Formats: sequence, C-alpha cells, structure tokens
Amino acid sequence: ARVGVLISGRGSNMAALLYASRLPDCPYDIVLVASNDPEAAGLTLATAEGVPTFAHAHKGMKRVEFDALIDEQLRAADVEFVALAGYMRLLSPEFIDKWAGRIVNIHPSLLPRYKGLDTHARALDAGDRAVGCSVHVVTAELDDGPVLRQIEVAVLPGDTAETLAARVLIAEHQLYPRALADYVMRDSTPEAKLARVREIAL
Ligand code: GRF
Repeated sequence: ARVGVLISGRGSNMAALLYASRLPDCPYDIVLVASNDPEAAGLTLATAEGVPTFAHAHKGMKRVEFDALIDEQLRAADVEFVALAGYMRLLSPEFIDKWAGRIVNIHPSLLPRYKGLDTHARALDAGDRAVGCSVHVVTAELDDGPVLRQIEVAVLPGDTAETLAARVLIAEHQLYPRALADYVMRDSTPEAKLARVREIAL
C-alpha cells in the first residue's frame, strides 16, 4: 500500500514507519512526506532517505484551502493511506471526508483518556500508574476515531512529563508500524477476501 505521512516537526514516528517499511514483509511503502512547516526537521531526514517531500507553510491560508493543497499532493503521489505523525494541525471535515477510513494517527495516551495536548502532564496530575500510546482511525472529532492498537507504558517513581514522553515515544515507534501494517492489510486477510467472494457470489 502507498502511504503518505504528514508531519509538523521532528518526525521520529515518520522515521519509525519508514524504516519498518524497508523490512521485506512490510505491506506498505512511504511514498510522500508532507508538512505544514517547511522547517520541520523530519523533512531533512525524509529527503536524505530518498523519500519525496512536500512542504508549505499554512500561515495565511484557510484550513480548507491548505488541506486541498495537501490532498492534491497526496493524489499526485497515488497515496492510498495517510498516516499522521506529529501533525499539529486539525484537518478540515472536507479533507477527512475525502479520505474517510484511510487516515490514521498516533496519539501519546491510552485513548479515550487524554485527547488533545499535554497528555503526559495530565496523566501524572491524575496519579495514573500507567500511560501509553494509541493508533486510531481519524474522524472529524479530535483524537476520537476507533482505536486500532495501544501499548501500555508504566509510570516510574520520579517520572516527569519529559521522561515519560521519552519512554512513551519508544513504545510509539514499536506501535505505529505494526498498527499501520495491520490496517492497510485489513482488506486482504483471507477472511476479508472470502467475504468479498461470497458477496459477489450471492
Ligand atoms: C509524538 O509523541 C506523537 O504521538 C505526537 O507528537 C509527537 C510527534 O513526535 N502526536 P515525532 O515528530 O514523531 O518525533
């Protein structure tokens, strides 16, 4: 499957997706990395790794206009699935409609807990003993679509939001490639294929 990754910054999850895609049994390829910030560090990495990039500052553009620009790039690259990886912009309902069921996101909490920002600080404030990360399907509501997979991470004595974020990030890098691979493959499992054959036969 052809995957486009949207980033706004460091791009470590994009790198995890990209390197996993180089394993021979990985069912997806990263064919485009796009950003709303031309300075995003992840773009440099993608370029060095030979992945085509697109960057355009969103400033001064209407959300729907900017998303149309991204949509155009994704289509030009024949992208089939979109993976958000630290993409710090809300997507317009128009964009989400066009890509319905084909956008996934990684979020640094055990959803449905702590949607939005500052997840680790909020978990620590709440006295949580475990935190984690989730990959979910993107719908119009922020961090709200069906959860595909999660990894739980223990809170250690003395953890701060920063130490926790660093440890959860290790889990994110394990989780995202697996969850994306499963997601793009969901239509090609023997069961799914059989169900389609039955549908045609009926
Ligand atoms: C990750 O923690 C991700 O879960 C969150 O933003 C961070 C992005 O990091 N949405 P990176 O750009 O992938 O390194």
